[in-house]
Amino acid sequence: MSAITKEYKRVTVKSLIEMKANKEKIAMLTAYDYTMAKIVDHAGIDIILVGDSASNVMAGHETTLPITLEQMIYHASSVIRAVKRALVVVDLPFGSYQGNSRVALEAAIRIMKESGGHAVKMEGGSEIQESVIRILSAGIPVMAHLGLTPQSIYKFGTYTVRAKEQAEAEKLKSDAKLMQELGCFALVLEKVPAKLAAEVAKDLTIPVIGIGAGGGVDGQVLVTHDMLGMTHEFSPRFLRRYLDLFNEMSQAFTKYTEDVKSGDFPNAEEQY
Ligand code: KIV
Repeated sequence: MSAITKEYKRVTVKSLIEMKANKEKIAMLTAYDYTMAKIVDHAGIDIILVGDSASNVMAGHETTLPITLEQMIYHASSVIRAVKRALVVVDLPFGSYQGNSRVALEAAIRIMKESGGHAVKMEGGSEIQESVIRILSAGIPVMAHLGLTPQSIYKFGTYTVRAKEQAEAEKLKSDAKLMQELGCFALVLEKVPAKLAAEVAKDLTIPVIGIGAGGGVDGQVLVTHDMLGMTHEFSPRFLRRYLDLFNEMSQAFTKYTEDVKSGDFPNAEEQY
């Protein structure tokens, strides 16, 4: 039985911190539209992320940089209309919070007001602290994101594992601590060594959700289209595929084409 049928209770930032304290792992997936969000929520996923990965997955851009605030609000409001139980976290898009903390607050307020999302996620450490403080001071919950931060891809140059060197690992640890001290309710750690991620999770009281960060953290997140096997050309080591939807859907579309062309569809029962 799924969590939602077992116990229908809304997930909150407070309940996530309790889950960590009770050593209950947190499951998080992405969604960008109503239909997918409805299925993900029904399955009992704790956090639904309206990720800026929509830029890649939905719009076909090479990076997450082009997606706009308006587009994030559109995706988030579609998700919110479907969700009854999960906490819905919405990515602040590139350019909406890195420069000026007043602009950052305006962007976060627009997301909360116009989409109905429950929290925002922001990539970066000490460099973005002013924006984090201002958004938190307006009562908007913030999820931090460290390690591989795809909005900075042109600074890194590659999507390889981050913080393998001591200096970067130390900076990540101090940024993680800072984000907790500022009042963030959770932290995403992307593509960092499992040992480092486990250390950070042990050191913090807020939940640490990993993607490519090993099993020693408090929860896991994957991009839904990746774990369903829809984006079949993308196969990083950390990805577990639960379905092969690219092939299954392709077969269905091919069969439909054949049926239409042969006149098999629609049959006598499939018409008025
Ligand atoms: O945008 C996204 O999907 C994300 C996850 C990979 C954590 O930030």
